[in-house]
Amino acid sequence: MNRNGSSPAPVPASAPAPALQVTDLQVTYYTDSGRVKAVDGVNLTLYSGERLGLVGESGCGKSTMALALMRMIKPPGRIEAGSAIVGGPGGMDLLKLNEEQILNARLSTVSYIPQGAMNSLNPVLRVGAQMLDAMRAHLPKATKEELNERVEHALESVELQRNVFRMYPHELSGGMKQRVCIAIGILLSPKVIIADEPTSALDVVVQRQVMETICRVQEKIGAAVILIGHDMGLMAQITNRVAVMYAGKLVELSTVREMFTDPLHPYAQALISSLPNLENKGVFQSIPGLAPSLLRLPSGCVFHPRCQHAMDLCKTVVPRQSTTPSGRFVYCHLYDEHGNKVKQPETSTKAQVQQKVPVTGR
Ligand SMILES: Nc1ncnc2c1ncn2[C@@H]1O[C@H](COP(=O)(O)OP(=O)(O)OP(=O)(O)O)[C@@H](O)[C@H]1O
Ligand code: SF4
Ligand SMILES: [Mg+2]
Repeated sequence: MNRNGSSPAPVPASAPAPALQVTDLQVTYYTDSGRVKAVDGVNLTLYSGERLGLVGESGCGKSTMALALMRMIKPPGRIEAGSAIVGGPGGMDLLKLNEEQILNARLSTVSYIPQGAMNSLNPVLRVGAQMLDAMRAHLPKATKEELNERVEHALESVELQRNVFRMYPHELSGGMKQRVCIAIGILLSPKVIIADEPTSALDVVVQRQVMETICRVQEKIGAAVILIGHDMGLMAQITNRVAVMYAGKLVELSTVREMFTDPLHPYAQALISSLPNLENKGVFQSIPGLAPSLLRLPSGCVFHPRCQHAMDLCKTVVPRQSTTPSGRFVYCHLYDEHGNKVKQPETSTKAQVQQKVPVTGR
């Protein structure tokens, strides 16, 4: 919900420009146990000014996708394929930049607030020094006064006092440290901010305040945000659209309203029905079975062993992308290429359900 109490618009204002276009992103970790396809052919477009939520069970590849966009995947991981164009057609492909270019692009074009960001602050360096370090290489001609002013301004933008500049991380609360990380993320007014579970270690009240801060600074600098998280309630209140990942693949992308009222993909449906609501107080639905190991993915649709609607086709054929006229998309054999529901064959085979596990836990 916005600060004025209304829900965010389903998509940004008319004919939004793409801020980031990700096409066929593939990332693999080459582990001793085998190849882990952590991100497997992800496509998505992020529009200027929008807030896109990225959700999915632990280990489904959310952080890997973010790290790939930042070009921060380290061995044994490797970006195998794909493009990530910032700034619309003809823009810059983050995945093709050389080392120097990507160093320049980080913070100034795309910034990342990492999972557990507040623990990434250097305990022996004052906050101001860390922020200056992050910025110096980008603005080699700026004077010391100009850099200091920019840092203090960024601190004020996230509702921190200027004197935090001279403090050490241990002198700050968790919420304040998280605000410092957001301030670092916006120092150079990037076009895209990727926030990886930015509030997961904070209590509920501080979570809300920090999220409001992210939204406010995002609106102020006109950036688009990818918000990674598990908290569907927060997603409902904060984001414009929601993308659902499962086992390295994006399975549905819809407006937040569509996702919560009429999810298309059976996994998204299960996620939504696992949320508590006033009609079924205290009753939690669960998704049958366990998330697959990325080392041994099921054939066909990777969700088929857990899907209540699985058909024989699902066991062998990977679903293609179906896109509705309104632009939402889903990967599932239940839909035709335009996202219309197809008639299920009578011979539908119900998936074998192995075990009940709650979906809301991590
Ligand atoms: N450095 C690594 N080496 C090997 N495998 C990795 C590495 N980092 C991640 N993985 C594997 O890649 C998959 C995706 O991990 P990732 O951290 O992207 O998931 P996630 O969706 O962000 O999970 P969470 O919600 O728990 O943060 C997991 O199976 C994980 O084990
Ligand atoms: S493709 Fe088949 S198994 Fe996969 S989600 Fe759709 S119905 Fe279920
Ligand atoms: Mg993660």
